[in-house]
Amino acid sequence: MSSQSTISKKSAVTDPDQSPKPRKRMTVPGFMARKGGEPLVCLTAYTAHVANLLDQRCDLLLVGDSLGMVIHGMPNTLGVTLEHMIMHGQGVMRGAEKSLVVVDMPFGSFEESPEIAFRNAARVVKETGCAAVKLEGGAEMAPTIQHMTRRGIPVMAHIGLMPQNLNMMGGFKIAGRDERDWEYIIQDAREVEKAGAFSVVVEGVTEPLAEKITQSISIPTIGIGASKECDGQILVFEDMIGLFPRVPTFVKRYGNMEEMIANAADLYAEEVRARRFPTEDHVYTLNKKDG
Ligand code: KIV
Repeated sequence: MSSQSTISKKSAVTDPDQSPKPRKRMTVPGFMARKGGEPLVCLTAYTAHVANLLDQRCDLLLVGDSLGMVIHGMPNTLGVTLEHMIMHGQGVMRGAEKSLVVVDMPFGSFEESPEIAFRNAARVVKETGCAAVKLEGGAEMAPTIQHMTRRGIPVMAHIGLMPQNLNMMGGFKIAGRDERDWEYIIQDAREVEKAGAFSVVVEGVTEPLAEKITQSISIPTIGIGASKECDGQILVFEDMIGLFPRVPTFVKRYGNMEEMIANAADLYAEEVRARRFPTEDHVYTLNKKDG
């Protein structure tokens, strides 16, 4: 591994040419105070270097269990373990100094009982140093959220489309297309707020429902596929930069990293095969002072 690949917080975080002014790390109360104000900017991050690049530009970095699909090639998020989340959470915490870092609770780690949820979440907080955890679920998870928040673990809830419910739903379904479903989803939002959640991810819901949810609660709503009617937005970083092949309707691609990687790898392969790489710039010599 080259020395350039270790995390240089100085280069990306404090270099005035590269990034906006350094700021203090976002806290849970600071995040909550942004309800109804300047939209909250959130992205997923799974690795230290990406976290370091996104840190100054985001309010919150989520170590999402989507890492199962995006990083580990799983078909869905159900196979993700607490160990995966802790390992990636540690990397992100090494890279991020300013953003509020939230780590997802994977399927099977919190549903059984509030006590088990607390124990696993405490392990995530202790072993990663993150400030909060996220868990999927609405009203049914309210007792668990209350148990955790009253014992010192801030919780971000996640309602609407819940990817860990894949098998129950028979696929990923947009919520709230039928107005008759609105009330129970709005109730989910109210219950997680009452239980003490500091924020709620609202996934895959129609715009009018997102607006209603956002107006019905006093904690920030963070939308993904839920329109601009939320207090903030989150996307999976790899979707946003074009580094994941499946692109849902709600994703806007801000870059095309797949194309960049393919082009770079093609050029590298061509140059290696033609013996045009390495050149003398890339080899160690007896006399030259090199790194
Ligand atoms: O796992 C994840 O990345 C998420 C976000 C997309 C909200 O839950």
